Amino acid sequence: MQRVPLVLGNWKMNGSVQANESLLQGLLGSLGPEADTAIKHDSLQAGVAVPAPYLFQVATRLRMSGLLWGGQDCSNEVAGAFTGEVSADMLKEFDCQFSLVGHSERRQRAAETNELVGLKLGQLLNKGLTPVVCVGESLSEREKGSAQDFVVGQVRAATKGLNDQQLAALVIAYEPIWAIGTGKSASSADAQAMHATIREELSQQSKSAAQAIRIIYGGSVKAATAADLFAQPDIDGALVGGASLDASEFSSIIQSACPAAQSPH
Ligand code: PGA
Repeated sequence: MQRVPLVLGNWKMNGSVQANESLLQGLLGSLGPEADTAIKHDSLQAGVAVPAPYLFQVATRLRMSGLLWGGQDCSNEVAGAFTGEVSADMLKEFDCQFSLVGHSERRQRAAETNELVGLKLGQLLNKGLTPVVCVGESLSEREKGSAQDFVVGQVRAATKGLNDQQLAALVIAYEPIWAIGTGKSASSADAQAMHATIREELSQQSKSAAQAIRIIYGGSVKAATAADLFAQPDIDGALVGGASLDASEFSSIIQSACPAAQSPH
């Protein structure tokens, strides 16, 4: 099955009104005709996950561009006395198309459990937003040889109880924690092996959804390594942190995911 490649930037807690404006301007100016056309024809998707206070700015700036924008987290609650949280309705009101959930920085810093991540993605699905569910093992799990079991456990917990249609609507971002912000990306072969394992796990639930679902890789993705990752059959794009804050670097990563730039699988 042909899956539409997806490249998302994760700004994390970075940015200012002025910095966002110049980053987006630089990005839109450097995408080039091939990526631009692919994005306009929906054969390539690209976007940014931004801090909630900047959603209005980014929505206004990107509305006519074909690029997507979304949140970095979503509450598991609908509305009410939940200070500091952002609901799926709020994300939708700013025309977000997606939100990250379960990023390892939230799992670690805010002690988010698999169960909570499952509730959050349920809220997004209820509102027709695409959950980008982040999973990934720590260095100690990798060294112990339990990375696959750990990640499969996270995927299983997040997707529990979803029907085929809901399952197919997810994006899974595989982000080994040891590769995030370290400059040390997983090799394309190791990333491919984990993506294939995740797809195999999903196919136990639904063969058709497992074929449709996009599994993107995150962890020190750079322009220099992107093409090799995207050439792998089960790597459908990238979630890019640090490199997404540099317009030309991020633009090159998006361009490498252009179907025209792909070597045939
Ligand atoms: P990185 O971050 O590209 O800076 O490693 C990826 C992420 O955390 O989403």
